[in-house]
Amino acid sequence: MPTASSHLLREPSPIVLSVCTSLGNLCRCERGTIVAGTTVLLVLHSSSSALRESSVTWPSRLHLRTRRLIMSKQLQARRLNGIDHNPWVEFIRLAKEYDVVNLGQGFPDFSPPDFAVQAFQQATSGDFMLNQYTMAFGYPPLTKILASFFGKLLGQELDPLKNMLVTVGAYGALFTAFQALVDEGDEVIIIEPAFDCYEPMTLMAGGRPVFVSLKPSPAAKGQLESSNDWQLDPTELASKFTPRTKALVLNTPNNPLGKVFSKKELELVADLCQQHDVLCISDEVYQWLVYDGHQHVSIASLPGMWERTLTIGSAGKSFSATGWKVGWVMGPDRILKHLRTVHQNSIFHCPTQAQAAVAQCFEREQQHFGQPSSYFLQLPQAMKLNRDHMIRSLQSVGLKPLIPQGSYFLIADISDFKSKMPNLPGAEDEPYDRRFAKWMIKNKGLVAIPVSIFFSQPHQKDFDHYIRFCFVKDEATLQAMDERLQKWKKELQP
Ligand SMILES: Cc1ncc(COP(=O)(O)O)c(C=O)c1O
Repeated sequence: MPTASSHLLREPSPIVLSVCTSLGNLCRCERGTIVAGTTVLLVLHSSSSALRESSVTWPSRLHLRTRRLIMSKQLQARRLNGIDHNPWVEFIRLAKEYDVVNLGQGFPDFSPPDFAVQAFQQATSGDFMLNQYTMAFGYPPLTKILASFFGKLLGQELDPLKNMLVTVGAYGALFTAFQALVDEGDEVIIIEPAFDCYEPMTLMAGGRPVFVSLKPSPAAKGQLESSNDWQLDPTELASKFTPRTKALVLNTPNNPLGKVFSKKELELVADLCQQHDVLCISDEVYQWLVYDGHQHVSIASLPGMWERTLTIGSAGKSFSATGWKVGWVMGPDRILKHLRTVHQNSIFHCPTQAQAAVAQCFEREQQHFGQPSSYFLQLPQAMKLNRDHMIRSLQSVGLKPLIPQGSYFLIADISDFKSKMPNLPGAEDEPYDRRFAKWMIKNKGLVAIPVSIFFSQPHQKDFDHYIRFCFVKDEATLQAMDERLQKWKKELQP
């Protein structure tokens, strides 16, 4: 929607008003009173320029209490230009408006494990000092246990003070990393489909996103495709590195595809990062959610990579408690010290009680790790059943799911629908998957997210025939999904 930002002044008459259409407010008037019958030039603004002007005869006398109701200068910082439209907003709104089963957003709708709930309760009702500030870079028992837990996995001796930073969710870790490391004009390679904040975070830091797409290859006849069939072209990837490349963003297991990068694929990325002296920002929030015996490999564990990698994790995804918003980033001190500068001067720290609860959860997990009682083992076992349930159900109406090897998500191919019902309502240039997802919400009561939003603008048309479902949902939600799909199936029968 256009927003108020600046004004056009045409003296002496008519009176010029800038108008913020989203709020319906008058934002600037050059005179204090408009009498009925005055000709007023209304100027509708986008963020940076006048969109439309029209002359109206003002219907009644209007006193403006202040000369400026809303600032008429360009309101937002230039770094927001081009990123102020977020397609999620529309889908979240639609999901609220209709009676739907929401398989769109990536959060569990079941309880975290009992030990996690108890840890949080204890953190809020126990030591009153947990109501106060703690160390800026992390509550000491949390940084200590994170360093010990991940140090073993990565084969590194980690110093809780130097190699760990606790942040407000993995989002906080990403933001801090981009702000600390990406400079004006730096290029950042983003492997797409990509979690949709990498591009705006690069832009906000003044960097230039450079995209390289994973490309699908067809599955064997009669078989379902797998997220593993989506591969990087090594020559294309190599061609994206230039002397301006500062960092590459990796996400394994990948959102939205569910791809788990193999060691061989990671070695390719690692070699190129080392050859071109590039940092790797590795988003591994779904690292425990890996299925069918596939292995999650942290790129930081490969030879020569610890020194140039930031590894990002999320307690929300690890313990099915996304609202806690505790994340972390680990890496060598020489890189982390710059993230600490950003963190110290922006967020300062993440809520102490939530950090204390996460520390307890990791203490518990460290005792059980590798055993059947480990939550990091139980969660993927349970979610694999959900995944398989969803894969079976979606096929009943002709949606073609790709089998994900990891993460909360699977994507389904809707190209059959695209050829059968190509003219779904929507804007002319709107990618098909967005029109389909809206149609599905309104007509079938199911929410999924169009996959084109995980691609850069120029590539969206090539990937406009997939939608993303989240299967980290309660049994009752999956049953409700089944009911909707059965109804849809009946409607399809002649
Ligand atoms: C790939 C990826 N990274 C980071 C995040 C953010 O995690 P957090 O909730 O810990 O901020 C998400 C959340 O959906 C995600 O999918």
